[in-house]
Amino acid sequence: MAILEFAGVTMSYGNRGGRVTALDEVSFAVAEGAFALLTGPSGAGKSTLLKLVLASERPDRGTIRVAGRDIHRLRKSSIPYLRRNVGAVFQDFKLLPDASPRENVALALQVLGIGPAEVEQRARKSLLEVELDPDTRRPARCLSGGEQQRVAIARALAGDPAILLADEPTGNLDPRLSREILELLQRVCARGTTVMIATHDPLVIDHVAASHRLELARGRLVADSDAVAVVAEPETSEPLLPLQPIAVGAVA
Ligand SMILES: Nc1ncnc2c1ncn2[C@@H]1O[C@H](COP(=O)(O)OP(=O)(O)OP(=O)(O)O)[C@@H](O)[C@H]1O
Ligand SMILES: [Mg+2]
Repeated sequence: MAILEFAGVTMSYGNRGGRVTALDEVSFAVAEGAFALLTGPSGAGKSTLLKLVLASERPDRGTIRVAGRDIHRLRKSSIPYLRRNVGAVFQDFKLLPDASPRENVALALQVLGIGPAEVEQRARKSLLEVELDPDTRRPARCLSGGEQQRVAIARALAGDPAILLADEPTGNLDPRLSREILELLQRVCARGTTVMIATHDPLVIDHVAASHRLELARGRLVADSDAVAVVAEPETSEPLLPLQPIAVGAVA
């Protein structure tokens, strides 16, 4: 079953000087449980592709489905549905610098509308999974880069997403910490979460045993190790994975 599908997706950034086509007719399907690697040179469109999955950008044309749902047809008030099914980590971690690891993870769960007792329990579990002490009071800014990326991964996983996206997750780490983070992402995948990493880091590209490799060049998909026909058929009336309803609409 495909957890993520792009069908004929085109996306351009516009400004007064004209438009830049960042993605051009991109179609692919990532199977549930895959460890997918999205590669390509700087400017190829990797981050744009991930932003479309996070619904922080919209496609000009084409369909993007997460767990069978056309995410850009969801109403704005349904964005938390998506946030719950898609976790993301970034090169610059994007943590609250003065908050502890537990507070960073807990806040993301509160935003999903989860009650205090469950927030506490899930935050602890998630931090233990990335081998961090849930009781440390050290603020995020006092942690090493590798530790900060672990907090970011714990935060992304705490909501139990169907897919974890990682945009250059090793970009700010030295080779040893990069390997640690890659091993952690592989364990996350082995436990059942689909993982998709966008990177141009040769260490990642050469050393990761990815089950699916996708390559972009100038916005076009130029290689797909797991190519299947993806058709832009209408949204399935029954989503393949139940998306949990959430009480709170605001997302930071
Ligand atoms: N906010 C934006 N406004 C205008 N153009 C943009 C914007 N973001 C990206 N672009 C352009 O879209 C194209 C794809 O950019 P994108 O950031 O997706 O590439 P990338 O593959 O992630 O590159 P990198 O490896 O450097 O992170 C590039 O030509 C880039 O200049
Ligand atoms: Mg990028």
